[in-house]
Amino acid sequence: MTDRYCVFGNPIKHSKSPLIHAEFAHQTQQALEYTAEEAPLDGFAGAWRAFIDAGGRGANVTVPFKEDAFALCDTLSHRARRAGAVNTLILGGNGRTYGDTTDGIGLVRDLAYHRVALAGKRILVVGAGGAVRGILEPLLAEQPSEVVVVNRTAAKAEQLASDFADLGSIHGGGFETVNGTFDVVINGTSASLTGDLPPLPDTLFNANAWAYDMMYGSEPTVFLQWAGPRGAKLLDGLGMLVEQAAESFFLWRNVRPETASVREMLRQSLEFDAF
Ligand code: ATR
Repeated sequence: MTDRYCVFGNPIKHSKSPLIHAEFAHQTQQALEYTAEEAPLDGFAGAWRAFIDAGGRGANVTVPFKEDAFALCDTLSHRARRAGAVNTLILGGNGRTYGDTTDGIGLVRDLAYHRVALAGKRILVVGAGGAVRGILEPLLAEQPSEVVVVNRTAAKAEQLASDFADLGSIHGGGFETVNGTFDVVINGTSASLTGDLPPLPDTLFNANAWAYDMMYGSEPTVFLQWAGPRGAKLLDGLGMLVEQAAESFFLWRNVRPETASVREMLRQSLEFDAF
């Protein structure tokens, strides 16, 4: 029987993951099947068990199930425990479920791919939800001089800073606490989905600064449209999507796919979707 993998979400129809993993499988000559599965909102654990019974070996997990996936795992990676979320499920030989998260490493790999330096740099992270919690450990591991987390609800940013304070220099607060300039500004809010712009000062970017939006689409996000004229170099979350997928693929198959051609293919597919 062919090894089966999938991405669970709700909704899941527009997921790019099947396209990405089909390409990885083709490129590395791995015989596997990867589909998109819509799990019921109140029945994630049941959907995972049914998938295992049907030959499932592993899965990616996306909105809104990353915390449900975290809760059902028998064993968790250190980074998943820090993130409080699981985006990669792996079926162990003994029928036990192992959970990991590759989102944060996906972001850091994408930044490395684009030669964005992090060591010794000042980084602003905007937002303090689940997505941001998932990137803080790998970001701090790159030894920036400081990570500042700001959020509409200041208390959540303060909490995150306190939760990760053992890993490096990190501070949290409301938008009004932003001061000075930054080398890298990462938008981890879901504001891009509704076309909203977090209230940030115009003078945010150092010379040679980067603006990164963890969201992506066929058009630049509102945040990137704002950051461009203010002098930042721009990156969206498409590369992060590909890199987190590559890391999940590696965890399942012990083979590391090449990502450049997949980035290219995905960018073209987004342009196609826009019509
Ligand atoms: P995710 O899993 O994508 O992180 P989440 O946990 O619901 O989703 O977090 C969403 C994040 O986007 C939060 O930081 C949220 O700010 P609040 O904590 O104040 O709610 C932020 N966000 C969403 N819409 C926003 C908007 N219009 N302006 C600013 N921040 C916004």
